Amino acid sequence: MNVNYEELKEKGYIDKEIDNSINIVDEIKKLKKSKNAILLAHYYQEGDVQDIADFVGDSLALSQKAAKSKADIIVFAGVHFMAETAKILAPNKKVLLPDLNAGCSLAESCLYEDFETFKNKYRDHTVICYVNTTARIKTLTDIVCTSSNAVQIVESLPKNEKIIFAPDKNLGNYINSITGRKMVIWDGACHVHEEFSLERILELKKENPEAKIIAHPECEKPILIVADHIGSTSSLLKFTVEDRAEKFIVATESGIIHQMKKKNPGKIFIPAPPKDSTCGCNDCNFMKLITTKKVYNCLKYEQPEIVLNEEMRIKAEIPIIRMLEISEKLGL
Ligand code: 13P
Ligand code: SF4
Repeated sequence: MNVNYEELKEKGYIDKEIDNSINIVDEIKKLKKSKNAILLAHYYQEGDVQDIADFVGDSLALSQKAAKSKADIIVFAGVHFMAETAKILAPNKKVLLPDLNAGCSLAESCLYEDFETFKNKYRDHTVICYVNTTARIKTLTDIVCTSSNAVQIVESLPKNEKIIFAPDKNLGNYINSITGRKMVIWDGACHVHEEFSLERILELKKENPEAKIIAHPECEKPILIVADHIGSTSSLLKFTVEDRAEKFIVATESGIIHQMKKKNPGKIFIPAPPKDSTCGCNDCNFMKLITTKKVYNCLKYEQPEIVLNEEMRIKAEIPIIRMLEISEKLGL
């Protein structure tokens, strides 16, 4: 990335104070219109950011949207690998991420040199990587997947295909358990989804026996075992709409509860508690770095921008396109 982030901060592009008399939501709308920009937001964003977005979705839907967008500028209210994926798929568009520090602990648990060494030990294996990886890791990948299509992507390969799955060990083990595959799994995890406490979830269930437990497959196995439904963010959301239960214990990042409440007025959503009751760690601190103020500054100054080396971009695009093609064929 050839931007000097510290310089952008110094110049005030990221946190620049905004005149209190302006209506930030109206200004964002005007800027989007005048610049032909689109704001994409992940379900883990703060509610006020989700509410001003043109499209809110999970990582699969957001990459599909970025690939098809006719906008000149894509502002990505999400984390770095998501904005990078948008840039890989839309190289002629300006892709902006309101705060470049919005990383991902899972993507950071899989570094290029280490993964290259790991991959070299299994030369006859096909490499499937979760979209939560850097563009460099995607250059070492055969097919990308997201939590919405991971099982189907794995199942699209012949039964005897040898597979490396990275970087999330919980998602990898979950796929192995339901497909009967024996994928070799990278030892990575997300700091949010690893923090849920089984003991405290079971206490909550005792107090609310009618509540259904729903969990993202990045959670540890004991949490998945007690879950009534396991799925990507969009699958969890859909389940809350379609299921007759009135109460849900939600074992994923708390931002999704904003959409759950909007789509299910009257139903009750209880965030699954983390092991440490004082840490508030079912919030992804990276996702929560994005604020409406940063979205406004980012649109106004068109910074910080995601810039990629073209040779790397072309290599990283191949496994993402394979994912999108498989997903389209399967109607996902
Ligand atoms: P989804 O693929 O469900 O959007 O999840 C992305 C993510 O970062 C989960 O922590
Ligand atoms: Fe990454 Fe975890 Fe945050 Fe998702 S919740 S973006 S996997 S750190």
